[in-house]
Amino acid sequence: MTDDRLIVALDVPNALDALKLAETIGPAVSFYKIGLGMLTGGGLALAGELKAEHGKRIFLDMKLFDIGATVEAAVRGLAQFDLDFLTVHGDPHVVRAAREGAGGKDLKILAVTILTSLDRADLDDAMIKPGEMTDLVIERAGRAFEAGAHGVIASPHEAAAIRALPEAEGRLIVTPGVRPLGADAGDQKRIASPAQAIADGADHIVVGRPVWQSPDPRGAAQAIQAEIARAGKNNSRVGQN
Ligand code: C5P
Repeated sequence: MTDDRLIVALDVPNALDALKLAETIGPAVSFYKIGLGMLTGGGLALAGELKAEHGKRIFLDMKLFDIGATVEAAVRGLAQFDLDFLTVHGDPHVVRAAREGAGGKDLKILAVTILTSLDRADLDDAMIKPGEMTDLVIERAGRAFEAGAHGVIASPHEAAAIRALPEAEGRLIVTPGVRPLGADAGDQKRIASPAQAIADGADHIVVGRPVWQSPDPRGAAQAIQAEIARAGKNNSRVGQN
């Protein structure tokens, strides 16, 4: 069985390209992330096809944020699509509404703490309380867990501190910003290797460009899987979650 700790972000322009990419990668990857940018390009149809025809797990990265009633309705609608993970912003009222909307469906609600593209000046502009970014991220993760989030999205550099929270017991940590050995960092500033992210408590790692921009996406994915396998012999969670 393919290790589902690797999630590949399908950040290509449209659903057709994404499907071709998934077919090229084949059994080397069993879990895909579909983002907001793909929504108008057939993202939900793509999710359905990857799940039904190819048996892949699906992470829909929507980062929903609105009043509770609207989030609940949106998640109730999305929950009809047989998705595995869905992101919302980590504000407790949003997380609670998302859990309501998911109802009894086996859809994991993952909370975004603070977007990694923001710095302290952006938080000041948004009138977010003073404090170190990392402390705020950890506090927001704790509150999201208390509100019922199945997991959080976190940079690999925050994974260990979040994993240490008592509220994180049994919850998922999913980390983007991961770069396999020797890969280009791109615009990711706070990166870690797959092995490091997993050692720090990540249940899943999200990797995009090092796979889909590679001339050999299948080989790139296989190399990451090999890195995960070497790193995670003792804490493999294949088939769980
Ligand atoms: O290409 P790369 O591996 O950097 O892609 C990472 C994926 O994870 C992208 O889809 C990106 O939007 C997403 N992401 C991220 N950092 C976050 C949240 C999401 O890179 N904090």
